[in-house]
Amino acid sequence: MSSALNLEPYWMPFTSNRFFKANPLLMASAKGMYFTTTDGKKILDGIAGLWCCNAGHCHPKIVAAIQTQVATLDYATAFQLGHPGVFELADRLTQMAPGNLDHAFFVNSGSEAVDTALKIAIAYHRVRGEGQRIRLIGRERGYHGVGFGGISVGGMSPNRKMYGALLPGIDHLPHTHDLAHNAFSRGMPEWGAHLADELENIVALHDASTIAAVIVEPVAGSAGVLVPAPKYLQRLREICDRHGILLIFDEVITAFGRTGSRFGAETFGVQPDLIALAKGLTSGAIPMGAVLVDKDIYSAFMTGPEHSVEFFHGYTYSGHPAAVAAGLASLSVYEEEGLYQRASEMAPVLEDAVHSLKGAPHVIDIRNIGMMAAIELEPRPGEPTMRATEMFRRCFEAGLLIRTTGDVLALSPPLIIDADQIGQIVDTIGKALQSIK
Ligand SMILES: Cc1ncc(COP(=O)(O)O)c(C=O)c1O
Repeated sequence: MSSALNLEPYWMPFTSNRFFKANPLLMASAKGMYFTTTDGKKILDGIAGLWCCNAGHCHPKIVAAIQTQVATLDYATAFQLGHPGVFELADRLTQMAPGNLDHAFFVNSGSEAVDTALKIAIAYHRVRGEGQRIRLIGRERGYHGVGFGGISVGGMSPNRKMYGALLPGIDHLPHTHDLAHNAFSRGMPEWGAHLADELENIVALHDASTIAAVIVEPVAGSAGVLVPAPKYLQRLREICDRHGILLIFDEVITAFGRTGSRFGAETFGVQPDLIALAKGLTSGAIPMGAVLVDKDIYSAFMTGPEHSVEFFHGYTYSGHPAAVAAGLASLSVYEEEGLYQRASEMAPVLEDAVHSLKGAPHVIDIRNIGMMAAIELEPRPGEPTMRATEMFRRCFEAGLLIRTTGDVLALSPPLIIDADQIGQIVDTIGKALQSIK
C-alpha cells in the first residue's frame, strides 16, 4: 500500500471503517478468477466481486465494448431521447426473459431496480382505477438494497432500524430457513413450502384490495443463501393470482446464471410480473440495473394523450451508453461462452465441495443452489459475527475472497470457475476453520 494514501476521508459503505483503516485491504487489478492486491498478492475471487462479475474480471470483450462506447458516445439523456444500444439491450433482455416480460426500464443499481419495481406496481394499480392498492409485502431476511423502498420491504434489521418509520403500509412474510428442519440440505430443502401460505393470512388481515405487490428474492442471497422448498414460489404465485396482487422477483443476484439458468424464474418454473435486475447484467463492469415488466402492466400505462409522460420516474444515467455497452457485451459473452450451461454443470461440483465441510469445526449448516452456497457457523458465545469476520481475514490472508453476513460464509464465484479452483476455495475455508477458535 502506498504510504501517501490518506484512507481517512473515504466513508466506506457496509464496512467497519475504523478496523479497515487500521488493517486495509486494497485491490490493484483483476483478471479472470483473480484479484491482485496493491502488495502483489493473488486472491481467488470466491464471490464474483459481490455476486456480480459472472463472466470473471476484466473480460476482454466487455472491456473493449465499454472503451469503444465511451470514446464514441459518452452520454445522451434518456429523457425524450435515446441511442440505438439501449433499445437493442431492452430487446435482447426481453427476448430472453421468461413469459410476457416484454419491456425493460433501465436504472443504475439493484436498489434503484427494486424501488422502481415497487413504484411501477403501486402506480399500475392506480392507473387501472385501484389506487387503494398501496401495500407492499416483503419477507423477513430479504435484502432489496438500501433505498427507502428496498429497506422497507427488506427484512434485515440492522439495515432498517436506524432509519425512522420507513414506508407505510408494509408487511412481511416469514423467511424460509429453519435449521431444525433443513440444515445441510443439498439444493432445495424439503421443508418449508407451507410458509408461502402465510401470505393468505396477511391478505386476510389487510384485505386483498389494499395490497399492490409481493416482492421476494427467489433465493435470499445477502441474508446467507436461503433456498426455498419446492413449490414455495408456486404457492406465492397462486395466492397472488387469486387476489390480483403482483409478484415481483428481485433477481439482482439470481439472474444471469447464478441459479444455473438465465433467471431464477426459469430455474424454479414460476412466472413473476416484474423482475428486478442488476449485478450480472453488466458482469459488474459498470453499474446498471433494470426492471423487466409484463406487457399488460406496460400497456396499462400507455393511455391518455400521446405526448403525455406516462410514468414520472427515471434517472440521469438510465440506459447510460457505457452501461448499455457493458450489458450487451456481457449477454453476448454469457451466450458465446455457454456460461448458463456451465453454471448448471459446475453446480454439483460446488455442492459436493461445500458439503464436504460438514463436520468441520463450528459448522452448523451448509446450503447451496446453482453457483451459490453458504456455510453457517455457530456464533461465538457473546461475540456474534466475530467467527465469520475472522474467517474473512484468514481466507484473505490465504488468498481467497469470501463474503460474510452474520456468522454465515457466502460463496458465489464467477461462472468461469473450474473444479480445481472450487477445490482451492473449500481447502482454504477448511484450513481456516481449523485455525480459528
Ligand atoms: C437481491 C438484491 N436486491 C437488491 C440489491 C441492491 O443492489 P445494489 O447494491 O446494486 O443497490 C442487492 C445487492 O446485493 C441484492 O442482493
